[in-house]
Amino acid sequence: MLKGRHLIDIMDFSTEELDEILGLANEIISDEEKFSQVCRGKLLATLFYEPSTRTRLSFESAMMRLGGKVIGFSDAGSSSVSKGESIVDTIRVISCYADIAAMRHPKEGAPKIASMYSSIPVINAGDGGHQHPTQTLADLLTIKSMKGTMSNLKIGCCGDLKFGRTVHSLIKAMSRYENNNFTLISPRELKIPDYVKKELDNKNIEYIETSSLEAAIGSLDVLYMTRVQKERFFNEEDYVRLRDSYILDKEKMTGAKDNMIVLHPLPRVNEISHEIDQDPRACYFKQVKYGMYVRMALIMELLGIK
Ligand code: NCD
Repeated sequence: MLKGRHLIDIMDFSTEELDEILGLANEIISDEEKFSQVCRGKLLATLFYEPSTRTRLSFESAMMRLGGKVIGFSDAGSSSVSKGESIVDTIRVISCYADIAAMRHPKEGAPKIASMYSSIPVINAGDGGHQHPTQTLADLLTIKSMKGTMSNLKIGCCGDLKFGRTVHSLIKAMSRYENNNFTLISPRELKIPDYVKKELDNKNIEYIETSSLEAAIGSLDVLYMTRVQKERFFNEEDYVRLRDSYILDKEKMTGAKDNMIVLHPLPRVNEISHEIDQDPRACYFKQVKYGMYVRMALIMELLGIK
């Protein structure tokens, strides 16, 4: 039962529960009209302490497509936070108004703290460089739809693996399905954090670390590209030096399998050349659409609406 639960970390849900959400998302996709009023009278609060268009609008459109309504803020400066209100007080107040809340925060762990004091379900919509479980739900639904399976895949993650929270959540999630392995492609300075590697080691999951996209691309089933996370750098110089470490272009794609898929959580900066957008293997805009449907399913499940 997912009713009343929080989603802070993708591991909060069992694989059966994840399957249930993905299954409901597919049902919604096949008959959207049937679900267009199921959240009538329900309110979603979007508490965004960090800039976001995509994720916030994805949550908002998800709730509205279910017939529900949305309140919230997209900039902490325009809320009581600027008066010094704590997250704990904010969530206690919001719990009185809304039925469910999605929170994005620059500090790792902030949505977790909020969930401890909340009487409504709290969804982590991204906490600092830590986790981004609803992006992972979007990624899982895209992989399942495009590859027909979430097992036996060679998954390449490329770019900023240090600060990229989407990759941290994705690796955790995909390592629960059978026989997946990972190729972690990054410059030395942006390698995956040790805590993620430790989890892979503990589960005996195979992975390699490399700095060469060209050398790795030919063996991959899924290539997950990421943006270098400018806002988490301590100095501009390092960012400028590293931002164009990887640019996926037509030439590199000639080395990839015909059925490899390219994913990206977006926003894209330079890491995927626009000439790839027409390539049938480019799935990042489909991923956006799947992201909205899977958030619809998640909202329904946490509210206990069937
Ligand atoms: C990602 C994020 O916020 O972590 N974007 C998103 O949710 N659509 C990736 C990113 O910002 O690079």
